[in-house]
Amino acid sequence: MIIAKLIGTVSLLVVYPHSHPHIISSECLSKNYIGTYGSQDLFIPSESCLSSFASTADVPSVHVHPDAELVWVEQAALEQHLLTDQPFTLSSLQNYLTALPDTNPTAYVSYTDDQQHLLGPVDRRILYQTSTSALLTLSSAHTRELSLILPPTWRIYVLPSEPSPFLPVPEPALARVRDILSSLRFNPDVAKIVSNISLPQVRNDIRFLTGEDGRSGIESRHTFSSGARIAAEWLKVRFEETGANCEFQHFLSGFAPNIICRYPSIENATDTVLVSAHYDSRGSFGSTRAPGGNDDGSGTVGLLAIARTIQRLGIKFRSSVEFVAFAGEEQGLLGSQHYAREMRRAERNLTLMVQADMIAYHEPGEPPQLGLPEIIGTPEVTQLVANISTMYAPELTVGFTPVCCSDHQSFHFQGFPATQVFERAGLIADPMYHNSGDISERIGYDLEQVRSIAKVQQFATLLHAAGFHLS
Ligand SMILES: *[C@@H]1O[C@H](CO)[C@@H](O)[C@H](O)[C@H]1NC(C)=O
Ligand SMILES: *[C@@H]1O[C@H](CO)[C@@H](O)[C@H](O)[C@H]1NC(C)=O
Ligand SMILES: *[C@@H]1O[C@H](CO)[C@@H](O)[C@H](O)[C@H]1NC(C)=O
Ligand SMILES: *[C@@H]1O[C@H](CO)[C@@H](O)[C@H](O)[C@H]1NC(C)=O
Ligand SMILES: [Zn+2]
Repeated sequence: MIIAKLIGTVSLLVVYPHSHPHIISSECLSKNYIGTYGSQDLFIPSESCLSSFASTADVPSVHVHPDAELVWVEQAALEQHLLTDQPFTLSSLQNYLTALPDTNPTAYVSYTDDQQHLLGPVDRRILYQTSTSALLTLSSAHTRELSLILPPTWRIYVLPSEPSPFLPVPEPALARVRDILSSLRFNPDVAKIVSNISLPQVRNDIRFLTGEDGRSGIESRHTFSSGARIAAEWLKVRFEETGANCEFQHFLSGFAPNIICRYPSIENATDTVLVSAHYDSRGSFGSTRAPGGNDDGSGTVGLLAIARTIQRLGIKFRSSVEFVAFAGEEQGLLGSQHYAREMRRAERNLTLMVQADMIAYHEPGEPPQLGLPEIIGTPEVTQLVANISTMYAPELTVGFTPVCCSDHQSFHFQGFPATQVFERAGLIADPMYHNSGDISERIGYDLEQVRSIAKVQQFATLLHAAGFHLS
């Protein structure tokens, strides 16, 4: 834990290990939540709140320019042998910070404790660090510059400028997920439905999205690219062909939109089950090619394969069902944050959501796997997916992964039951992670694993959680 007074835009900063009991027990703390980064929860509480659990006299003061942004930088959870090129170290981070171009110095005076502080240009400073992450202050221009020069295996998030309440998933929502789990029985209809996913179709779809088939003209699905727009139009039409009503949700100017597709409830039920992936991608620094075959073309074609099967077998749902392909994931979960906040404002009745992000790769020689989140996610939903996997995809070895931070996080932190499915019970082992070589035809890329994970995670979970009729 760290506690620091930030003088300038914010007054105090508290960093706790994720889900520390303080968060739940301290009302003033839980109202001033900034976010969870790595496995740390960040808060910016008032001084009176801080004094309730620490002696403010001992708290170090940190001066932050009022125009500065708080920025979190971290090393993705990669296998050691993939880190040799550009491991996260404090000195390399400092080198990147030093390399940022100078901005015009601006003076600023603030009064604290009867003292006058003269602040120079916006700081580029490290406020807090672990062995794999750091919290910085930067000007917004520097944040953009830094995001362009950091190694692709480092992730960067701009922290919200205002705290918001920390919303735990409410007990009645958890109880519903537990009910689904406790009434879970193997259903032969579900087994028949989920095994109808067509592998050749999945292969065609991924080759279109990566541009490997030469048909789509897609070179990149980076959220700002024209390829992302082509992919968005194509995905919307493909989902609509399966009987869904789809819309684009524009959330930030310049960003490709979220694609939100709905299947209506045949019983006019108010509850919704949501399954998702992100269709935007990232490539190597200096290259315009970003095929995103695994990250997250794999999750996206998994969703599409489920939708096509729903249409082929004439499945209708008791609950409302939403299929969402998010954009802006690679810039810090921006598309899903927008939609999760909107769902919270509308008090939507969301039974659960499952995000698939990177489900195609495992190391050659390893069995097909299903990795479930160790840190961020609703344990009840994770347990449900684990049990469903044992029932419908015994070919998958199920385990946990410390790899975190995909779009389910946005929902989990708005108090909705949510989890993620990942390709490995371990760290990221894909050598093409955030690389221009992330295509589907390569060693270790396993479409049968994509089909197995799609079968369980989203399809069987969806059928059990939403209820269904076969026509
Ligand atoms: C879920 O799986 C766990 C671990 O395998 C098992 O103990 C539990 O009985 C299962 N629950 C249901 C409802 O099947
Ligand atoms: C899926 O079901 C359809 C309709 O019953 C059938 O024609 C098709 O062969 C099945 N495909 C697979 C891959 O099981
Ligand atoms: C659902 O609502 C529609 C339109 O209001 C109505 O016609 C239909 O009968 C309702 N269905 C059920 C199962 O209640
Ligand atoms: C949400 O939907 C479920 C299932 O239809 C229902 O039991 C529950 O009462 C609903 N909750 C709210 C808050 O509407
Ligand atoms: Zn991803």
